[in-house]
Amino acid sequence: MRYLPASTLSSLLGDWADGTGPAYRVLAERLRLLIADGRIMPGSRLPSERELTDALGVSRTTVASAYRELRDNGYLISRRGSGSVTALPTKVEPRLARHQAPWIDTAGLYDFTCAAPSAIPGISTAVASAAAEMPVHLTTPGYHPQGLPVLRAEIAAAYGERGLPTSPDQIIVTAGALAATSIAVRAFTQIGDRVLTESPTHPNSVDAIRRSGCRVVAVPMSPGGWDLPLLEATIRQTAPRAAWLVADFQNPTGFLLPAADRQQLAAAFARSRTTAIVDETLFELSLDGQEMPPPFASYDPDGVITVGSVSKSFWGGLRIGWMRVPSSLVARVLDARASLDLGAPVLEQLVVADLLRQRATLLPERRAALAQRRDALADAVARDLPSWNFRLPGGGLSLWCELPEPVGSSLVGVAQRNGALLVAGSRFSPDGGLESFVRLPFTLEVDALREGVARVAESYASVRGARPGVMIA
Ligand SMILES: Cc1ncc(COP(=O)(O)O)c(C=O)c1O
Repeated sequence: MRYLPASTLSSLLGDWADGTGPAYRVLAERLRLLIADGRIMPGSRLPSERELTDALGVSRTTVASAYRELRDNGYLISRRGSGSVTALPTKVEPRLARHQAPWIDTAGLYDFTCAAPSAIPGISTAVASAAAEMPVHLTTPGYHPQGLPVLRAEIAAAYGERGLPTSPDQIIVTAGALAATSIAVRAFTQIGDRVLTESPTHPNSVDAIRRSGCRVVAVPMSPGGWDLPLLEATIRQTAPRAAWLVADFQNPTGFLLPAADRQQLAAAFARSRTTAIVDETLFELSLDGQEMPPPFASYDPDGVITVGSVSKSFWGGLRIGWMRVPSSLVARVLDARASLDLGAPVLEQLVVADLLRQRATLLPERRAALAQRRDALADAVARDLPSWNFRLPGGGLSLWCELPEPVGSSLVGVAQRNGALLVAGSRFSPDGGLESFVRLPFTLEVDALREGVARVAESYASVRGARPGVMIA
């Protein structure tokens, strides 16, 4: 169980006392929103009434009454010996069966469920030249548990160009980034181990971690990105066996982990002997020409596992990703993989090797198209949903929108009837909450994005209309 010191809670609360009504109510409501929106994770131990009273400079009765109000509404559980622990009133169990897959038949629907664009132009040419290379492979069994040497050499060279010397022997090609994460978790954890993640984050990867029998310790992102003091405190308190982070244009928030924070976190993980598994799947999608920070592994090349993929840069249908693994750990990872699959398809690996060779000419067009879609989506949301808040991300594939009320899940249902498919923010929270968030990917064509947002806006108006009593904080 994580302890939230009074000083941390006080800074999370900010200027809470500017609300109207009795102080204890205002405090309780602020705390409730922090819990409901995942800024304070369920299961966190709050400071004692006395500690919080001192930190906030209010009366003890204010804090006691606020805690009582939260307890009465199911947001706090007080147990003798373990203090006051946060909870969610209708416990949202992380349901493993919630398979997040693109809708199969989306004709006539505006599908905002999948943050992955269609294939890059130029892929057919790469497929043709890969097919021409196949005869030599057809005379072999075609099993390459570590990946085709030609592809591993391309991937390793790309890390070298970014200042992280990498031998092709350190690369393991997988069937996408998600498979790479699953293999890494198998290799470096045991049942019952704690694995630290961000919240919100990519839900399928969290499911993969849980399916491996690990316990997820989710650390809330702050409105400005990663909360380094909170992350470091959590690492110290929980000593997780592994951590899974999305450093590049984090899905869904779009934040990019700065170089200095990479260095600081890599040191914190090394101190606590936590294996950092860092997903850099969205690395190629810097949309405003921002220079990318060095790979996370640059700060601990012999400790960090890097996950990469071409799903977002070239096409998810190729199902090719990889891991960059410290040399001393390659055999362990290959061992963990052997019972899962025996390698990725040869033809697709040849296609990806060809695409990687051409990436300097292919990717600018990809980025330009996505930047245009991002801007079109941002304009449409600002126009049709003016009460929604979002930060324009410098890269990645989605807007992470904050609604004035926690109506994400109801909105998903109504929007579906109006022809727009959405995923509620709560799906991105390992522990539930985040009901006032919705992720909107900008992967559809511009016209579809505009019409889709119009459908969402219409749905939102009716959800709001049905909830006249909702308090807006
Ligand atoms: C951070 C992150 N990791 C992994 C994946 C899955 O990637 P892949 O298709 O390569 O398995 C996604 C896709 O949404 C993602 O956003």
